[in-house]
Amino acid sequence: MNPSNLAVELAADNVSALEGASVTPIKASIGSRISGYRFDGKSISDDFRAAMRHLLHNRGLVVFEPGTVTAENFTKFGGFLGEFFHYAGPHTPRAPENPDATVISAGKDAHLRNHVWHADGGFRADAPAFTALFGKAIPKNGGDTMYSNTAYVYEMLDPLFAQYLESLNVIQSPDATGHITDRYLDPEEAAQARLRMPPFEMPLIRTHPESGRKWVAVNESYVCYIKGVSRVHSQNILGILFDMIKSPEATCRFEWEEGTLAVWDNRVVQHRAVKDYESDATRLLYRCTMTA
Ligand code: SIN
Repeated sequence: MNPSNLAVELAADNVSALEGASVTPIKASIGSRISGYRFDGKSISDDFRAAMRHLLHNRGLVVFEPGTVTAENFTKFGGFLGEFFHYAGPHTPRAPENPDATVISAGKDAHLRNHVWHADGGFRADAPAFTALFGKAIPKNGGDTMYSNTAYVYEMLDPLFAQYLESLNVIQSPDATGHITDRYLDPEEAAQARLRMPPFEMPLIRTHPESGRKWVAVNESYVCYIKGVSRVHSQNILGILFDMIKSPEATCRFEWEEGTLAVWDNRVVQHRAVKDYESDATRLLYRCTMTA
């Protein structure tokens, strides 16, 4: 699909199964907003689940207004997308009122790298398929999250360049930019973490199993280098792709309110927090991640 065909996909946003809720696109490249839906804390219909998955696969990101879910039940809502995929480092504790959620407390955690573009769990070959992020406490000013649709990035590439990229593999590692070094301060624990999460090889361009769209599978946090080319060649190509991933065309910026929920397809969508809030502000987000 090229970007112009996305208009067709936008029409598919108007999914009839949303039980009276309305769906509006955020940008041509990424995102839908669902308004007027209230989760009863118990179940969602098969049709609603199918509509959600359709939007996630085709639009990448779906956001919900305050009142849709609560801090206690958003994980149950997310759990209708897939099995929980719990992973947590030494600095991401469980939420007090919800053991299925991990707390992202940016202001308080100097080790957190949520302001660098990444996919959640992108340091593993089996990274989660979906993330749900709930706004628990939001700074008065700033603290948005930015999202990028790397399937759209692929569609912006020159076709010959895209063809070349499809012949390449990348090496990824949790320590590509020092996550293990910074987070596991005890050398023995760091050594164990490196054994548990060794570097791995992945195609640079991947294909989404549901939408069939190709995506650019490199991110600034966890990619070490492109395999089999010189360091300079690798850095320059990665630089071009990272620039495209950050481009205004491929991205949107989500402004949090307390009680908002963002859910995304964590395979094709990358994200980063924006650290533009007061240093003493509280910014608390609750997260859960799911398999496909
Ligand atoms: C995350 O990396 O999952 C959290 C993003 C954010 O803090 O905005």
